[in-house]
Amino acid sequence: MPNPFYVTTPIYYVNDVPHIGHAYTSVLGDVLSRWHRLVGDEVYFLTGTDEHGQKVQEAAAKAGRTPQEHVDLTSQRFREMGRLLDLTNDRFIRTTDKDHVEFVQSVLQGLWDKGEIYKSSYKGLYNVRDERFYSESDIREGRGPAAGEPVEEVEEVNYFFKMGSYQQRLLDHIEKNPAWIVPDFRRNEVLGFLRQPLGDLCISRPKSRLSWGIELPFDKDFVTYVWFDALLNYVTGPRGAKRADGTSWWPASVHLIGKDILTTHSVYWPTMLMGAGIELPRQILAHGWWMADGQKMSKSLGNVVDPFEVARKYESVGGAEAFRFFLMRDMVVGQDSSFSEAGMVKVVNGDLANDVGNIVSRIRKQVATQFEGKVPALPATLFDASKELKAKAESVLAEVPNQMRLFRVSFALEETMSLARAINSYLENTAPWKLAKDGSKRQELAEVLAVSSEALRLLLVLLSPYIPRKASEALALLGESAAPGKLAWGLLPADAEFKDGPVLFPRLEVKKPEADKPKADAKQAPAATAAVKSPFELVDFRVAKVEAAEDHPSAEKLLVLTLDVGELGRKQVCAGIKAHFSAADMVGRKLLLVANLKKAKLRGVESQGMILAADNPDGSVHLLSPEGEPGSFARVDGYDHLPGQNLAIEALDPVVLEVRGGQLVFEGKPVTAGGAKIACSAVDGAKAH
Ligand code: MSP
Repeated sequence: MPNPFYVTTPIYYVNDVPHIGHAYTSVLGDVLSRWHRLVGDEVYFLTGTDEHGQKVQEAAAKAGRTPQEHVDLTSQRFREMGRLLDLTNDRFIRTTDKDHVEFVQSVLQGLWDKGEIYKSSYKGLYNVRDERFYSESDIREGRGPAAGEPVEEVEEVNYFFKMGSYQQRLLDHIEKNPAWIVPDFRRNEVLGFLRQPLGDLCISRPKSRLSWGIELPFDKDFVTYVWFDALLNYVTGPRGAKRADGTSWWPASVHLIGKDILTTHSVYWPTMLMGAGIELPRQILAHGWWMADGQKMSKSLGNVVDPFEVARKYESVGGAEAFRFFLMRDMVVGQDSSFSEAGMVKVVNGDLANDVGNIVSRIRKQVATQFEGKVPALPATLFDASKELKAKAESVLAEVPNQMRLFRVSFALEETMSLARAINSYLENTAPWKLAKDGSKRQELAEVLAVSSEALRLLLVLLSPYIPRKASEALALLGESAAPGKLAWGLLPADAEFKDGPVLFPRLEVKKPEADKPKADAKQAPAATAAVKSPFELVDFRVAKVEAAEDHPSAEKLLVLTLDVGELGRKQVCAGIKAHFSAADMVGRKLLLVANLKKAKLRGVESQGMILAADNPDGSVHLLSPEGEPGSFARVDGYDHLPGQNLAIEALDPVVLEVRGGQLVFEGKPVTAGGAKIACSAVDGAKAH
């Protein structure tokens, strides 16, 4: 029977847009899954979205949608990230899925029936962003520690899980299972935490305060605490899927998490499972944080790394795979790392374009010219340099599984790349291009090409978890694939054809950031019109959030809006929508703004742009509701963002944006901002202007 490997990522909050942090854990899960499949294990890989809670309820209200509509829309961008990064997850779970809701309720009922949950009054300092109570000592100047956001005093009756009664059992478990939390220093952190008395866990929220959650089955006036609901996704996920031998997938082999959610996973979660009589997960792996160019990433700094952006910029050279490769190569699992495009380009060029690309082209050329494209058979006895390369390949084949077992993915990749370097040295030392010129060295030449081709095949199989597409395209040139059972020396059949093909590992060039991300004050040369594919590219459409709105002092039809436009700062815009929306309707809404129009004065009030809305034939006006963060720009596949400056309003005439199926489209393609499509309630065919 194959070994089971069940791996999970955290489920992501739908209020955020996918960033490098989400991408990293997801790719790590995918690489581990692909690796385990390759070595013949039976794999289940789970990821998804965390969709309940106060923040979601508030965001939905602001966007004028029901919470369900809101999460249906926002969870999509995480699915899109999965497609972008080629994740091979078996399920994308959403905490609003029916089977999950039912399972959470059955666990709650079971705990209630066993007396593990009790009702009591609670007074504490609550922070909405973190969806949790803080103790007095956590608070500085009325703000919670994690996000620095305000806390409010809340007193209410709630339900509590007897978490404290499991403290000793949990300590014993961690002490008896030294590898339960990896890396070691994180385990020590948890042990330190558990030396303090462990309180009980408040697991409910009164519906009067929060209705967007899973109802407690034994009290309809309450919903369950978002973490209680979220953590159980790991058990719900594969409940409907049995292993080949009919057994169930739980317990998970490993939960991959970021270091910030260690306590919830290694204290709340195991005690909940103990209470419910469910086995504990086998391991928890806490990874570090990505920074951007050495700085902490934050929305206010505008340096959050967007996987869509990176993939798009380097699309022609396999951007998504370059990104995957860099994430895995650069971060030592457990430590923090820093992302920069220049860093990614350097690593990808060094390892893939140079090392792997060279091997492919060197061998292919000699096989084509000297052996009519057929790789010679491996001889039974090898000369010394060949024996050495074979021994190197076999030592890498033995070492990589050890590293992977310890989740030391960057080390496994380093081992793998050491094979690439060994193949290149072998080629340099044996110099097949010289052997080819000497008719008496035919046999030696055949051996060099056979040995190096086999080593290349293994190298590509070993790389396949990281760069699955590129590796399988390259393997296909040899008529091979990365399938279970392929990780052994000597499997390339005699006379395997080495096909010709395009350059698979092209060099990346660092793209100038200015072209994609104009900074607020950057003096830009007007975009060269010749390079512009469509007038759409010249318009700077941005997500803007209404901070304040008031009636225009003298123009009856106008509202004066103060907009937060992220990196572009604050803008004041006069909008002719007063007949349809009151000033109060507008505050907190996100809109689509044309941010690079020439300034204008409308009846004495300056307007620094124009917001877009679509008209229905019945005369009603429908605003666009983008999801992205303020300042994110709208884009359409195939078009660049090359905004000019001080556009005249007529520049918008050729840019026909319309609504199709409740979404904004340009030339039939969806317009997105921050990775999400832009919703609009106008009818099909309504034009946005
Ligand atoms: N919804 C909870 C998890 C519930 S799991 C039962 C949550 N979601 S999150 O979207 O805020 O975070 C998801 C993951 O992203 C966490 O593991 C977090 O550590 C990770 N990261 C967020 N920012 C990150 C970086 N800058 N770098 C690396 N990972 C980071 O928490």
